[in-house]
Amino acid sequence: MVKAQRGTKDIFGEEVLTWQWLLKNAQDVFQKACFSEIKTPIFEATELFARGVGDSTDIVNKEMYSFSVGGAEKDSASITLRPENTAGVVRAFIEHNIVRQSPPQKFWYFGPMFRYERPQAGRQRQFHQIGVEMFGVKEASADAEVILAAVNFLKSIGLGDLEIELNSLGCPKCKAEYRNSIKEILKPYLNDLCDDCKMRYEKNPLRILDCKNEDCQKIFELKEVKEVILADYICDECSEHFNQLIEYLDGLNIKYSRNKLLVRGLDYYNRTVFEIKSCALGSQSAVCGGGRYDGLVEMLGGAPTPAVGFAMGVERLYVLVDKIKSLKIDYFVVSTNSLEAMKLTQKLREKGRVVDFDMQGRKFAKQLEKASKIAKCAIILGDDEINQGFYSVKNLETGEQVKVESLEEL
Ligand code: HAM
Repeated sequence: MVKAQRGTKDIFGEEVLTWQWLLKNAQDVFQKACFSEIKTPIFEATELFARGVGDSTDIVNKEMYSFSVGGAEKDSASITLRPENTAGVVRAFIEHNIVRQSPPQKFWYFGPMFRYERPQAGRQRQFHQIGVEMFGVKEASADAEVILAAVNFLKSIGLGDLEIELNSLGCPKCKAEYRNSIKEILKPYLNDLCDDCKMRYEKNPLRILDCKNEDCQKIFELKEVKEVILADYICDECSEHFNQLIEYLDGLNIKYSRNKLLVRGLDYYNRTVFEIKSCALGSQSAVCGGGRYDGLVEMLGGAPTPAVGFAMGVERLYVLVDKIKSLKIDYFVVSTNSLEAMKLTQKLREKGRVVDFDMQGRKFAKQLEKASKIAKCAIILGDDEINQGFYSVKNLETGEQVKVESLEEL
């Protein structure tokens, strides 16, 4: 038989209830914070990600599902299943001239993303993100507002004690100086770096710091290398921005720690970057990653617009939250007369109740057995009930049964 692709998953049954609950919380929390939902297409021009996410990143180099469609006579340009959604939201922001609305323009989203990674716990090839993007505010208050939105959402799903790691990558100017010093100090070790890092050395040396290869890690641990890596390199303005963010977070009582090695796996960031981690998740510990990307809108063809956002992996959240206990439906109508059962079911559904009934004319005992598994109450519609116009209602938790005379009373 044909099976689901590696790294993909069917979500159904009880699991779907937890998903719906996660989404409902996201909707409540983000809408209260005045983020409006945005739904962008699942595939975009490959070029959007190559330019937006960056061609030195693993995502663009190794993990994209890219293909051409349409053949010769149609537009056969390469398209890609979105590996993330920031580039897509920025594209929409530019395309619909959203910049003309008064800032901040605040969006949230939920949807599937695709990365050709080695599947393992918490890492899939099709996974889902809940994220937010905010445009138009360069002040650190926006970084704080976005982090606050993440924290509020995580709290709403019972995840209050996660670790927030914070760093500032600086602006293009100070970042360039840092990049040069990293290149300088690593030059003598170039041949000992892994092949990926050799490529990163040319294209984006900061990405080297993200490398998990043991040989590379040993080089980073060398005293003279470590000193350069951990140097305070950001300029006064970027420091000021970072300090303001910290003041906001302290004022809001949001705990964080500084991780100077946090560079993130996407190229568009400047200044603030952050990740929210859970020890319970082991090596795939980040449930949330985000930061500021003031250059991206302009780089993709829009007017210069500061921006900041984050995305969370729903599959990683899913394993951390207390699973919703199997939610039971309100009523199961037990009757061998399917038409009467269906008519009553319909009336109760119109009154807003969650109701099901037996469609196969099974024996009473079988129907009651099913009812006790899935429903809070069974409504019994036997011959007496139908002929005399009353309902027998059985509370399936206590076993108590009562006679009910009318639909209103029911
Ligand atoms: P990211 O760090 O690549 O950032 O992904 C964000 C989150 O998505 C991760 O922290 C993780 O929870 C989840 N995630 C990533 N890859 C996988 C996977 N293969 N399987 C399961 N979960 C995964 C971004 O995507 C940026 N667009 C975030 C952002 C928004 N920055 C600014 N705005």
